[in-house]
Amino acid sequence: MGTSEDKVKLLSKDQIEAPFPDVEVEDENTEEDSNHIWRFVCYALAYMVVVGVFLSAITFQNSSTDEQSFSRDAGYKARVRQIRPGERFDDRLMHDMRMREEHRHAKMFPMFKPPPLPESSYDPPSRFEKAKTARYIVHNSDWGSISTISVSMVGVPFGMAISFSDGTVTNSTGVPYFYVAKFDPIVKNIEANNLSTLALSEAQSDYCKVHKWDPEDPLCSRVTLIGKLVHVGPEEEKFALNAIFARHPVMKTWPKDHGWQTLKLVITDVWLVDFYGGATMVPVKDYFKAEL
Ligand SMILES: *[C@@H]1O[C@H](CO)[C@@H](O)[C@H](O)[C@H]1NC(C)=O
Ligand SMILES: *[C@@H]1O[C@H](CO)[C@@H](O)[C@H](O)[C@H]1NC(C)=O
Repeated sequence: MGTSEDKVKLLSKDQIEAPFPDVEVEDENTEEDSNHIWRFVCYALAYMVVVGVFLSAITFQNSSTDEQSFSRDAGYKARVRQIRPGERFDDRLMHDMRMREEHRHAKMFPMFKPPPLPESSYDPPSRFEKAKTARYIVHNSDWGSISTISVSMVGVPFGMAISFSDGTVTNSTGVPYFYVAKFDPIVKNIEANNLSTLALSEAQSDYCKVHKWDPEDPLCSRVTLIGKLVHVGPEEEKFALNAIFARHPVMKTWPKDHGWQTLKLVITDVWLVDFYGGATMVPVKDYFKAEL
């Protein structure tokens, strides 16, 4: 029966049963096969254990942080819904997370300082001197975009380009001073609501363009000063006007009958993007302490 045996060997067990019901199938490899199966099972188990350990290591490594960020997110949304205009939103955890992220980036790019441009005096400090960077941008800008909440277009966040000065060329104070006509919409707006922001960008100079940074590139630094836009008091008027005229001498010649007003932004917060990893809230006292 050599031929039928040969056939049997060629066929699989399932096929055998139907055409040859009486043939006993001898499987000489059973023992060896089961060894293979066991070895395969062992390898598979070992592999699963290794992969499992690896996955749980990367998943649960920051489990507490994940939980925090989850509840933080829910809490954040709930609080944002309740926030009223001008109310402060201090999120300590969010800030700490931000700082950790910043340190991580700082380690990845130690002491990033963009090269100065040829034939340009614009040469900002290292990107890890946050307060100094913010002050540098403020002092080296002649104008920015100021926003107030509109009265005539009720509730609209009205932004407009405006000239300012934070001191004479050699004496930066960090406080932006403005010179505006009494007809200017922001004068009306701040009577109703003095909350205001001043947005500045390094893209206002040729700095970002020469470095080939889009104005939204984190390396093309932006600072937004947040605070209250108020009239300068009589004791500060002379200093403020000196600061303004030092940087914008033509203003001295503008028609007197426009009812010029001297304003300043009383800064409560400083928002800065000067590097990868998101914005920094520069502490206001550090901002004023920074020396250029
Ligand atoms: C700079 O301005 C401040 C006022 O903010 C003044 O006290 C100080 O004397 C000035 N410094 C110089 C060198 O003019
Ligand atoms: C700014 O507005 C707030 C709230 O209306 C008010 O309490 C504060 O006195 C104002 N500040 C100035 C300097 O006008």
